[in-house]
Amino acid sequence: MAKLTKVGSVDEFDTCSVKRIEVDGLAIAVVRIDDDFFAVGDRCSHQDVSLSEGELFCEDREIECYKHGSTFSLTDGSPQSLPATKPVPTFEVSVAEGHVWIAVP
Ligand code: FES
Repeated sequence: MAKLTKVGSVDEFDTCSVKRIEVDGLAIAVVRIDDDFFAVGDRCSHQDVSLSEGELFCEDREIECYKHGSTFSLTDGSPQSLPATKPVPTFEVSVAEGHVWIAVP
């Protein structure tokens, strides 16, 4: 069963920005785009590189790995371009009482 973890107040997240957080040692990249929040594993599926240090493509809802340029869907974690071929994990995000919550299995 997933554990709901509060990762900050909504105001701490700027729109079209990414923030790295850790929950029980698991690194997660949390992205806000307007009123939508996304959370993906903060580790590229190609090599051990932090996705939260890469560029965001907010209109396409993708995040780019800075090392070799693979982009990943923020919605389902699927790779959108090579060299990465495997998805990164995604986590359910919810907003309640002005705070952002992530469901971590
Ligand atoms: S390390 Fe991310 S695309 Fe190669």
